[in-house]
Amino acid sequence: MASAGSLLCVRAFVLLALAATAFSQLSPNFYDNSCPHALSTIQSVVRTAIYKERRMGASLLRLHFHDCFVNGCDASILLDSTPTIDSEKGALPNNNSARGFEVVDNIKSEVDQACGGPVVSCADILAVAARDSVVALGGPAWEVQLGRRDSTTASRTTANADIPAPTMNLTQLIENFKNQGLDETDLVALSGGHTIGFAQCVAFRDRIYNETNIEGAFAEKLKSICPRQSNDGDSNLASLDPTPAYFDPAYYYNLAQRKGLLHSDQELFNGGSTDALVNKYTSYPIAFWQDFAKSMVKMGSIKPLTGYQGQIRLNCRAVNQ
Ligand code: HEM
Ligand SMILES: *[C@@H]1O[C@H](CO)[C@@H](O)[C@H](O)[C@H]1NC(C)=O
Ligand SMILES: *[C@@H]1O[C@H](CO)[C@@H](O)[C@H](O)[C@H]1NC(C)=O
Ligand SMILES: *[C@@H]1O[C@H](CO)[C@@H](O)[C@H](O)[C@H]1NC(C)=O
Repeated sequence: MASAGSLLCVRAFVLLALAATAFSQLSPNFYDNSCPHALSTIQSVVRTAIYKERRMGASLLRLHFHDCFVNGCDASILLDSTPTIDSEKGALPNNNSARGFEVVDNIKSEVDQACGGPVVSCADILAVAARDSVVALGGPAWEVQLGRRDSTTASRTTANADIPAPTMNLTQLIENFKNQGLDETDLVALSGGHTIGFAQCVAFRDRIYNETNIEGAFAEKLKSICPRQSNDGDSNLASLDPTPAYFDPAYYYNLAQRKGLLHSDQELFNGGSTDALVNKYTSYPIAFWQDFAKSMVKMGSIKPLTGYQGQIRLNCRAVNQ
């Protein structure tokens, strides 16, 4: 009797230990039992949002990136300001720029309804929405790792320090990505996210008026959108590549023609160590597809909160009471 009892005890302990290990890493099957309709629900809201506005796919992809680069993929970017939360939405790279928060709110309310409660984290919603956006705009698919939990803090200071700036040179970009555990291939492949979406005049003004490694007619056309005087048309938009509604290799073709919109884009093809990868992606778009998918999984795995860390927020904009 006693030995059967202790065997049961040992079994229970082993099971608990196994559960704890399984919890502490991400897995594509994380919601299979707890909410089987989670992923299809997210996809459906993302598709509807993109059908209404193609750009939303770009905006959702960028939200996941700006989340992951600030203390890991923990939905810290979604928290609104309070007396104790210094919202990352006010950080320089996000203020008047990061968008898509209302779509994330819609996803959250639909997915909570589908699950019968708050089962899916806001951080996982961002990761799945990013993948679904890329697929909806014609890009590669990948299996999203799941099981991230949501932060109880945010840091505008870290957002300002860790999200790369469009003024960075290649050395700085490589260093910035390295600080996140990402290498040069990740840098070049993930920058391919700029095959969709738009940038504001203030982000490319210096490039089109002051730089020489830019194709002439391309710069002239942009000057008609973006006046030289600062404060004049700062928020006027130009597409990051010629086909901003399609996830395609045009971003790299453009770099090879010195038609990168941002200084940081053209740095990837300016006589440095990453030229070869840009050439490769222009010649073999399939290699871009594969590397982008692989690097998105890698980026999505930056410092996740797992197990009993963090929480599953009830509202993506606020820490649970
Ligand atoms: C390599 C360093 C990067 C820099 C310096 C950078 C910088 C920028 C800037 C300045 C904008 C325009 C924002 C505005 O004017 O409002 C932008 C837009 C965008 N970025 Fe990046 N970015 C980088 C990497 C990435 C990565 C890794 C991704 C995703 C994988 C990404 C996805 C996007 C998307 C999709 C947009 C368009 C958003 C929209 O139209 O709403 N970027 N980026
Ligand atoms: C964000 O931009 C607005 C102007 O649109 C400005 O009033 C506000 O001070 C900015 N926030 C921060 C934190 O810089
Ligand atoms: C890149 O920028 C940093 C900081 O401004 C500077 O120290 C460095 O010399 C630059 N590197 C190159 C290769 O231009
Ligand atoms: C270009 O460079 C000049 C001289 O360094 C500087 O005054 C100006 O602000 C820069 N930007 C633009 C858009 O002209």
